[in-house]
Amino acid sequence: MISINKAAKKTTGYYDKLSGKYNKQYQSYLRHTHKKLLGRLELGPKDEILDVSAGTGLLAEMVMQKSGPFKRMVLNDPSEGMLAEAKYLLRHHTKEIEFTGHFSEDLPFEDASFTRIICLNSFHYYVNQEAVMSHFSRLLKPGGTLWIQDWNRVGLFKAAIFLIDLLSPEHIHARTLDETKELAEAHGFIVKNEDSWRFRIWNFFYLKCERKL
Ligand SMILES: C[S@@+](CC[C@H](N)C(=O)[O-])C[C@H]1O[C@@H](n2cnc3c(N)ncnc32)[C@H](O)[C@@H]1O
Repeated sequence: MISINKAAKKTTGYYDKLSGKYNKQYQSYLRHTHKKLLGRLELGPKDEILDVSAGTGLLAEMVMQKSGPFKRMVLNDPSEGMLAEAKYLLRHHTKEIEFTGHFSEDLPFEDASFTRIICLNSFHYYVNQEAVMSHFSRLLKPGGTLWIQDWNRVGLFKAAIFLIDLLSPEHIHARTLDETKELAEAHGFIVKNEDSWRFRIWNFFYLKCERKL
């Protein structure tokens, strides 16, 4: 078991405080990133899905409307405040959704228990990204899909990330698309699709990976 250090707890403490304002404060960023990923997810009734840092449940709500219900859907987030918001937003789906509060570095689910893992706007917060990727690989059934969409540490945005890291209490370790692909490939994934783009001050990447058979 990996012990979750102070940096990870500082980040979730920040999100606990932000949780009630999060949806409104980051409305246009969230609308953009959620719409972008939603259009790319391929989900069906037989899927066992883990949204590993589900935040306030905005993506899950759209996913449920578009393609739910599913064989299993787990919304995980270690921030109690964010998870409470997600539970409220999805209060009409409590029978179809499990809510859990684990750090991504320490996910206690059984091996091969999911067909799909979603990681949106969160990978840059993980303190031990090697451990997280190793959990993703362990938790997915062979042939299962991992989607990661996150900040891409390139160009001028690299300087912006440096400043955000300096000025904010969260632990931030953003990767480039290529660095994330490398990490995924080292943990038994095949990259199936990728993209990178700019939106206002942000640079994003999208990665679809398949767990090797
Ligand atoms: C920017 S929010 C994104 C939430 C949601 N995916 C979305 O797009 O709205 C980042 C989330 O990552 C979660 N988080 C931070 N550190 C984490 C960790 N070590 N393990 C799992 N989740 C973490 C935070 O609690 C927060 O809810």
